[in-house]
Amino acid sequence: MPRTPLTKLSPLIERREPAHLETAWRDAGCGQVEASWAEREVRVIGWVHRRRDLGGLFFVDLRDRTGLLQLSFGPEWSDPEALELAAALNPEDVVQATGVVTPRPEANPDMLTGEIDLRVSSLERISVADPLPILVYQPPDEELPSEELRLRHRVLDLRRPEMQRNLRLRHVATNAVRASLSEQGFVEIETPLLTRQTPEGARDYLVPSRVHQGRFFALPQSPQLYKQLLMCGGFDRYFQIAKCLRDEDLRADRQPEFTQIDVEMAFVEQDDVFLAAEKMFQRVWRDGLDLDLPVPFPRLPHAEAMERFGTDKPDLRIPWEIRDFTDALTGIGFGIFDGAARAGGRVRGLVLPGGATLSRSRIAHYDGLAREAGAKGALWLKRSAAGWSGPPAKVVSEEVASVLETKFGVGEGDLVFLVAGTDSESSPALDRLRRAAARELDALDESREAWLWITEFPLYEENPDTGLPVPAQHAFTMPSDPDPERLREDPLSVTARAYDLVYNGIEFGSGSIRCHLPDVQRVILEATGLTPEEVETRFGFLLEAFRFGVPPHGGFAIGMDRLVAEMVGCASIRDVIAFPKTAAARGLLERSPSTVDPSELEEVGISASPRNTQRKTQE
Ligand code: AMO
Repeated sequence: MPRTPLTKLSPLIERREPAHLETAWRDAGCGQVEASWAEREVRVIGWVHRRRDLGGLFFVDLRDRTGLLQLSFGPEWSDPEALELAAALNPEDVVQATGVVTPRPEANPDMLTGEIDLRVSSLERISVADPLPILVYQPPDEELPSEELRLRHRVLDLRRPEMQRNLRLRHVATNAVRASLSEQGFVEIETPLLTRQTPEGARDYLVPSRVHQGRFFALPQSPQLYKQLLMCGGFDRYFQIAKCLRDEDLRADRQPEFTQIDVEMAFVEQDDVFLAAEKMFQRVWRDGLDLDLPVPFPRLPHAEAMERFGTDKPDLRIPWEIRDFTDALTGIGFGIFDGAARAGGRVRGLVLPGGATLSRSRIAHYDGLAREAGAKGALWLKRSAAGWSGPPAKVVSEEVASVLETKFGVGEGDLVFLVAGTDSESSPALDRLRRAAARELDALDESREAWLWITEFPLYEENPDTGLPVPAQHAFTMPSDPDPERLREDPLSVTARAYDLVYNGIEFGSGSIRCHLPDVQRVILEATGLTPEEVETRFGFLLEAFRFGVPPHGGFAIGMDRLVAEMVGCASIRDVIAFPKTAAARGLLERSPSTVDPSELEEVGISASPRNTQRKTQE
């Protein structure tokens, strides 16, 4: 839910407006005309938001970024030309009006300027608007146009108060970040956009070089290596509001081009980094939302998060935790449970207080979710007044029932979901069930915010296709045990000094203490399957910097778009980006990507032969 009513901009934003937006065209912004100015003549300019015709009297709501002002037109106080023009105005025409500020007989409490009218004497139309492809004034209860139309006509969409509020709040948040980090001694430094690959797990956007034909720049997936080089360069505390580019599959919380609050610090340990980040968030929450943010944020080691919640981004607003039922439910005559345990797996489950109200068809739905998430299914046990029901109910002896009641707290009216198998099957399934069922059973406490640092990530994950270790976050993290032998022999067992910041179950950011030991860094890279030569070619510049005195360092990066989307309460980061790409990575407004003239391709020495003509951009 949005935190501020959309009829007005957030009061916090309004408070930040400069005194009066007076220019050659106007005396003040529409929303800045004050009731105390009654009887004064004022000039305003803006867009025609809405026009009403009350038989000879016209009312026009004039809009600019500061809000709405009602203009009134009548034969007694308006020029005949102004009256005539008022009758002919189109929505979104730009008009300049001069008139007298007049108190209204009845104030409109929904409007910032609801106590007054501007009785217009003269009116000039500065720009005529064609019939609109999408409306800016949204009659109440009317659905928004499709996102495709909104993005195609983004200029009109941006005029809606909701989009104005979102982008203005983004500005407030960005300023708060800059202010807090600057106060903490960080220096804002820009890093190159034309660079070489910075591995963050996505594909690179490539830019052909005209001067060096056959060679390509890569656009940065993040400033990761540059910020580490800046630490070597003696800057100690760096930040950047950095554009990052990743060619990856898009979702509501992912864009090919997005913004990070990117931070790096030298001579620090994890606690120093957390403190700096928490101070920054306190400032953002105070300036943007007028809220006091309690710090420090709780911390949870990765392994414990996986055990208790089945995910590395648990939403702690849900009180339920995953429990291990293996001992309680194996050896009692239920084949699926025994089979899982024999194969080295476990029986893990969730107790849903009050869950006995779920119907068979809802339970079947959750079983489907567990299967989608990779489990063989979710079994269930219901405890109602009549006793136990569900597939394993027949083996629930009095003794088993007593364990379920005393050890696991299963009471009358509760439901237990049970997933048998390996942890890599049960964790995603139970995570999915926990999140979905909590919504249905109203177990998610939306009145609170849940911040959380997840710590001690594994250094690597296994690539299921190649069997090779791939960095769980990126390859520049200090292992908790920086022993080259162990890294070579058992890389998957090594944890890292890496962390994520999770807010209400959403990954806001991640970071780590970096590996500043060149020999260990080399082994970490080689363990991913790179030859020593490849390590040298791709990362030699970093390793070289480490040879001339490297400070221990660490940092983090926060997804700015996700942060602001949560602050304003919208479902998609596209709503906090002025000109986002569609889910198919297209710019609908400027129609990008586009084909280019063959002569330009020739100049950079490449020829384009799309493999699939269907995929060619529609011009
Ligand atoms: P990471 O890749 O986890 O870490 O990115 C940090 C944060 O950036 C946001 N994010 C995105 N937001 C929108 N669209 C995307 N495609 C996208 N990808 C990532 C997320 C994420 O948590 N260099 C490291 C950080 C570090 O170690 O300091 C990095 O980039 O909110």
